[in-house]
Amino acid sequence: MASSPSSINALTLSLLSVHLLVFLGSPSITTCIKLPPETEQRPQTFSPEEESQDSESDRVINLPGQPSTPSISQFSGYITVNEAHGRALFYWFFEAQTQPSQRPLVLWLNGGPGCSSIGYGAAVELGPLRVDTNGTDLLYNEFAWNQEANLLFVESPVGVGFSYTNTSSDLSMIDDAFVAEDAYSFVVNWLQKFPQFKTRDFFLAGESYAGHYVPQLAELIYDRNKDTAKYTPINLKGFIVGNPETNDYYDYKGLLEYAWSHAVISDQLYNKCKQVCDFNVSNWSSECNEAMSVVFAAYLQEIDIYNIYAPRCLLNSSSTSSSVSSTSKSRFESLTKVNEHDLRRMRIPGGYDPCYSQYAEMYFNRQEVQSSLHARAVNSNFRWKQFHVEYV
Ligand SMILES: *[C@@H]1O[C@H](CO)[C@@H](O)[C@H](O)[C@H]1NC(C)=O
Ligand SMILES: *[C@@H]1O[C@H](CO)[C@@H](O)[C@H](O)[C@H]1NC(C)=O
Ligand SMILES: *[C@@H]1O[C@H](CO)[C@@H](O)[C@H](O)[C@H]1NC(C)=O
Ligand SMILES: *[C@@H]1O[C@H](CO)[C@@H](O)[C@H](O)[C@H]1NC(C)=O
Ligand SMILES: *[C@@H]1O[C@H](CO)[C@@H](O)[C@H](O)[C@H]1NC(C)=O
Repeated sequence: MASSPSSINALTLSLLSVHLLVFLGSPSITTCIKLPPETEQRPQTFSPEEESQDSESDRVINLPGQPSTPSISQFSGYITVNEAHGRALFYWFFEAQTQPSQRPLVLWLNGGPGCSSIGYGAAVELGPLRVDTNGTDLLYNEFAWNQEANLLFVESPVGVGFSYTNTSSDLSMIDDAFVAEDAYSFVVNWLQKFPQFKTRDFFLAGESYAGHYVPQLAELIYDRNKDTAKYTPINLKGFIVGNPETNDYYDYKGLLEYAWSHAVISDQLYNKCKQVCDFNVSNWSSECNEAMSVVFAAYLQEIDIYNIYAPRCLLNSSSTSSSVSSTSKSRFESLTKVNEHDLRRMRIPGGYDPCYSQYAEMYFNRQEVQSSLHARAVNSNFRWKQFHVEYV
């Protein structure tokens, strides 16, 4: 699968779509990942004096289905972000494959809101181990970003993937500011666990709705770094966002015009939307909601919104994992039921082969995978999912 055209496409697209690059601090930095040529052999681990015992207990060994070579130094587990409420974010961290002690640290966030950075970022897009099409094996991704950087994925906010809160009322409090605060606490506390990274060059990266998460977290870090008496300094050097959501007006206008100009919707529907929708306001009129839901529905039948020229994922659903089309459909239906107004927030969870969602859901719901990753089922009904629909 790693060499199939669709996965190469997905990778190329995800790299090409990185079109906004902003650096804080030193203007002499032109890239976050270019480093001198390699001399060392992979894999590298930290020298014993650098390595914290605390982090060692999060080391991942015997991950089911992992290829025997190359060996990948990886850690995963929970970082408490709020003790009083019992909130913890789940992370999966891959050391750089060479010279990890020289390489920068990159934190990756997927969007949604509510999409898992483990399921998309790590297991489908830029991580070194991608879930195979049978949901049981992992394939080495030779284009993994940890070729160049220490790569940290975090499931954010609580409620996404394995991340949880023991205070269920938290789940109704989640907005961008809440997400940024918890992500900030995550970074501070993760660096306690991995102190060798405290002074390392640090970059934030993400896609889609992380066009909100990444700059908002960067701003929080930047502001708090000014008050070192109160806050732990974080050596943030810059951030990078791909295919980011930054501006609702152009986002929805673009989505509508793309659908029309590619014959996904009719002239009539296009004109109707133009007539009834004002994308400059966040509270759409009911006429606009109605018209735009027809636009979204056009993508749910036969057309993959990520790649209109590719076939949809037609994988059979298994007993444990619903097919992606039915997932999208029920997602669509639940949104329609819950709040039609929120339909416009049916954000594209990132990734270009929708079947990947299904492979990852199969993989991360296996008991032996969860124990190997130090993940816990939050309750007896727990099922790991690619996205948390309530946040959409
Ligand atoms: C949440 O509650 C469980 C069960 O009491 C406990 O084991 C866990 O440590 C708590 N999580 C946090 C982050 O406090
Ligand atoms: C999963 O698929 C790969 C080929 O892509 C195959 O080598 C492997 O044996 C399969 N694993 C299982 C458990 O079926
Ligand atoms: C909506 O916002 C865009 C971009 O800021 C602006 O160009 C446009 O004139 C606005 N349209 C209306 C109807 O206010
Ligand atoms: C949206 O909110 C504005 C300001 O609160 C209000 O004037 C307007 O009537 C609302 N529009 C709709 C369609 O609800
Ligand atoms: C699809 O699933 C059904 C029920 O689980 C099964 O009987 C059928 O063989 C599957 N088809 C394919 C093509 O896997």
